[in-house]
Formats: sequence, structure tokens, C-alpha cells
Amino acid sequence: MQQGELSMAEAGSVVRKIERKLQAKARSEKGGRGVREKRIADNVLDVIGGTPLIRLNRVGGPERERVLVKLEAINPGGSIKDRIGLALIRSAEASGRLKPGGTVVEATAGNTGIGLAQAACVLGYHSIFVVPDKMSVDKIRLMQAYGATVHVVPDVPRIDPNNYQHVARQLANSTPGAAYMGQFEEESNPETHYRTTGPEIWSDTDGQVAAFVAGAGTGGTISGVGRYLKDCNPHIEIIGADPIGSIFTGPVAPFRLEGMGEDYYPKTLDVDVVDRWIAVGDDDAFDMARRLAREEGLLVGGSSGAIALAALQVAKETANPGYVIAILPDSGRNYFSNIFREEI
Ligand SMILES: Cc1ncc(COP(=O)(O)O)c(C=O)c1O
Repeated sequence: MQQGELSMAEAGSVVRKIERKLQAKARSEKGGRGVREKRIADNVLDVIGGTPLIRLNRVGGPERERVLVKLEAINPGGSIKDRIGLALIRSAEASGRLKPGGTVVEATAGNTGIGLAQAACVLGYHSIFVVPDKMSVDKIRLMQAYGATVHVVPDVPRIDPNNYQHVARQLANSTPGAAYMGQFEEESNPETHYRTTGPEIWSDTDGQVAAFVAGAGTGGTISGVGRYLKDCNPHIEIIGADPIGSIFTGPVAPFRLEGMGEDYYPKTLDVDVVDRWIAVGDDDAFDMARRLAREEGLLVGGSSGAIALAALQVAKETANPGYVIAILPDSGRNYFSNIFREEI
């Protein structure tokens, strides 16, 4: 080797440096996520997660500077529930409840059904979902588009035997080859958020987290992420945004928000992880969802509106240093029939 020539190892390192520079340049020019490391995925499930944190620029007051929203609508099925679809199926397979070619059955507000249906397509399962009739028709159409069978039942309290969770369990028992997924009791639900959503937030902020704000349906998100962040730094505040009418802030009454709020305490919700709850009304949440679309270009659902409102309040109140992270669970495309319905 002549003096001044590069060894193979040195040449490789120079090439990698140039590649990194080009990728950074492409990222800044595109204004988007830029060139990703791995561009060919084995299947759609491979691109779930890794969602971005985004600053707010218009809604709220100056406190918005502390808020970062995590855009779960970017998942291929359009919501945070893509993350648990595969995990629920894997845990049913591992316990022997789900056999090859079988049928996944679940009670869902829609997004878990979409996440499960997507995974079922890839893994060769059939899917059947039971949905309360208050949920948007858009989500029902989406589940059907993935080939799922959807049963819509009256939205009655959990103590009623006709509640969607009981109907789904009965269907699973009476359908040959079927397995009930059980997002409200399966530990794989919060565990998935402990393993993926939590570490993404910690790593993307270099641990600069003051508070974490999420809604709770099953409680999987807030419990899994909350546990992870508290394991990293016990001072991080974990705050639940809750619809007025849900049991977590009580008293129980009907509400229109979908995917968040309950009339009982699911097994997957670890109440000890939640430091406090903030109650938000349906109309305020829907107004904020429409503002996020029109003023921030973030097309998200009503629960995202509720969570963003709570996060702005927390950003004003918390003495902790760092960012206030708000989960925006799903896409506004799920709500064209209600929140974003315009007469045309
Ligand atoms: C639309 C929607 N999907 C999913 C979730 C996540 O709920 P969990 O992980 O508690 O089931 C929420 C919570 O706000 C939500 O609003």
C-alpha cells in the first residue's frame, strides 16, 4: 500500500461517513423522515412503530414549546393498536390457543381490530370482531377492507351480558378454531408498550422527559410506557387524559370519545403508574382534533384532541424539566363519518 492510500477499513469508514452526510442532506431537503436505513421490509408488520415526535407550532399558548406529540397515525394500520395486533396473536399461539389457519376474535373499539386484521392477513388467520355501535362506521369499513367479519352490538355497560366483550368471548367459544385475543387482560398488551413505545420516547428525547400524557382504554399504553419511563426516571409524571363520563375520573355517564375511557377498571390498566387524571369533554376534544388538522396539519382522531388538550395543561403546570410527551393514538381518517363530517 502506497503512502497516502486508504486501507479497506479506512475506505469503508469514509464511505459510511459520506453516506450519513448524504442521508442527513436528503432528510433536510425532503423535510420528512428522509432515507431510512432499511428500505425493504419483509412484510407490513415490519414497519410498525418507530413513530416520530413532532413539535406543536400553533395550538395552545407559549407552553406548547414544551409539548411533543407522538404521531401513531403513521403506523400502517393508522393507529397505536398496530403495535399490539401481532403481540396478541403471538401470545395466543404460544399458549396453544391459536392454531395455524385459525380465527382471531376480539372485542374492539376498532383500532385493535384493524391492527389484528392486518397481522392476521400476513400470518394466515381469519378474523372476527365485535364492536359497540357508538364507534365510527369508518373503522368498521377498515376492518372489513382487511377481510374481517364485524359484528356491531348495542353499546351497553360491561355488567350487561350483551356487552361487546362478553359477546366476543362467547363467539370465540362457539367458533371452531377460534381464539379470544383479550386485549383488556393480556399482559402482552402493556408489555409491548414497555418494549417499544416507551424506549422510543426515551431515546428520541435523550431522556429529557418531564411528563407523559396518554388516554386509557385497556390502559395498555399508559401502563407499559409509564412503567418504562418511571424505570428510567421515577420523577417523570404519568398523566391520563380521560373523557368526562369515564370511570377513571368518574362518575360514569355516556360519552362520545372512542378508544379511551371505560366503565370499569381493566386488568391491563396499572392505576399505580398513573400520577393523576385530567377529565376532558367530548366537544372540547373534537374541537382540538379539528384544530390539530387545520392549524398543525396533524389529521388525528378525537382522543388525540383530548390528549393534546391535557398535555397543554400539563405543560403549564409541571415543575419538572424536559418535554411533555403526548400520544396521538390514531388517524382522523377513522372519523370522516362523525368528527370531520362536513356537508358537501
Ligand atoms: C383511539 C384510541 N386507540 C387506542 C388508545 C390506547 O388505549 P389503550 O392502550 O389504553 O387501550 C386510545 C387511548 O386514548 C385511543 O384513544
